[in-house]
Amino acid sequence: MSFEMYQENILDHYNNPRNYGTIENPDIKFHDVNPLCGDEYEFQFKIDKNGKIVDVKFHGNGCAISKASASILTETVKGKNIREIKNLGRKNVLKNLGITISPPRLKCAMLPLKVVKVAVYSYLGNQKEIKEFEKEWDKME
Ligand code: FES
Repeated sequence: MSFEMYQENILDHYNNPRNYGTIENPDIKFHDVNPLCGDEYEFQFKIDKNGKIVDVKFHGNGCAISKASASILTETVKGKNIREIKNLGRKNVLKNLGITISPPRLKCAMLPLKVVKVAVYSYLGNQKEIKEFEKEWDKME
C-alpha cells in the first residue's frame, strides 16, 4: 500500500471503527487511559474454552491514530488464542498503521495495545509481563 492508502485506511478506521461497542457478559474487560491527553479505551473479549478470542469489541474516545489503532487491533486479535497476544508488539502496530508515527504520538498508537496486553495478561495472571510492558510504555516518548 502507498502512504496515501495507509493514510486513507487510518481515516476510514477512525470514521468507521470496526468492532466498536460492547459485549454482553465479556470474559475479559479492561479500560485504560493515556495520562498525557486523557484519551481512553475499553476492550472486551469473549474467549472460548481453548482460549481463542471469538469476539472482541472496544469503545472509548481518542485521536484518529489511537482510534484507528484500536480498530485495526480488534481485527488483528480476533480469532487468535489469548496466549498469542504476547507476540504482538510495537512493530506489529506500526506496520499495520503504515505511516511514520512521530515520537510524541507513539503513545497514541500504542494505547490500544497496552489495554489489550494488560487485559489479557491480567486474565492469565502474568504480572511479570504487565510490569515489562509498563516499563516499555514509560520509555515511549
Ligand atoms: Fe490522546 Fe492520541 S492524543 S491518544
